[in-house]
Amino acid sequence: MTATLNTLVVRPVAGHIGADISGVDISRPLPEKAVEEIRNALSRYKVVFFREQELDHASQIAFGRRFGALTYAHPHDDAPPEGFPEIFTIDPRRYEERYGPEFRDRVVRRQYSYFAGWHTDVTAAVNPPAGSILRAETVPEQGGDTTWTNLVAAYEGLSAPVKSFVDGLRAEHRYGGAERISGSGSYAKRVNDNLLVAVHPVVRVHPLTGERALFVNPGFTSHVVDVSARESKAILDLLYAEITRPEYTVRFRWEPGSVAFWDNRATAHLAPRDLEHLDVERRLHRVTLIGEVPVGPDGRESELVAGKPFTDEHTVKVD
Ligand code: SIN
Repeated sequence: MTATLNTLVVRPVAGHIGADISGVDISRPLPEKAVEEIRNALSRYKVVFFREQELDHASQIAFGRRFGALTYAHPHDDAPPEGFPEIFTIDPRRYEERYGPEFRDRVVRRQYSYFAGWHTDVTAAVNPPAGSILRAETVPEQGGDTTWTNLVAAYEGLSAPVKSFVDGLRAEHRYGGAERISGSGSYAKRVNDNLLVAVHPVVRVHPLTGERALFVNPGFTSHVVDVSARESKAILDLLYAEITRPEYTVRFRWEPGSVAFWDNRATAHLAPRDLEHLDVERRLHRVTLIGEVPVGPDGRESELVAGKPFTDEHTVKVD
């Protein structure tokens, strides 16, 4: 099916999630109607893809601002590009330069199962970003794809008794994923000295669509609260198996100039895991929209446990 909305063409690319949008140059100021059409496509398809765009930092920020206020680059980034505090540059070499091999080893150690690496951006904050816009600058000729999953479809696929069971649960989300990050390196010290922890409903009601989404992810969710550790693990294993089911996903092949825009309230994503043994360059730039505090089906909001809401301020400090 191809839906033509004025000059914008929205073409769904997978069964449950994802659409290509063509016929629009997002590096230029857009009419309100185009913004509304992109917003509608995002609500429906959860992640939308633009190709062959010629964005730079300034025009990516300007495009993002049409959809809401932007956050600071990332809670744990101290060096966004000069003059662009909203830009978070994703390039594994930056982390290795800053934290040394400790960071890479930590990431590899966490790949303990088939779903490790799946996450929704910054859910350790009490107000995780509402949306993320990622632009590719340099991508390898082979590998480096990103995959997204539809958390609304994952919730809807549950049986009625399991839906009503998870509707009442809440879970802690923690930067680094664990109670305290182990080790004495600069990454561990930084995370432990700047705890970022929130309790969110396991099922989040989307503020625009009213849809319910499974709002847990292996990257940040530490445990389900008010149940035993064994119960928490069993519940999260079940939910992670659901959210990573292939039928709810879409995989995107990047080219320089590609842009992905996802609804961070209704998706989780998996950065590529197929490049660690290759000496290739992959550099992308992300902006994130300041999010609201999630609300569960019972109307209860998320709670801040440690840290500050994620806004345009850089609040994480290092000695
Ligand atoms: C992200 O987690 O926002 C980055 C995804 C990617 O590197 O593909």
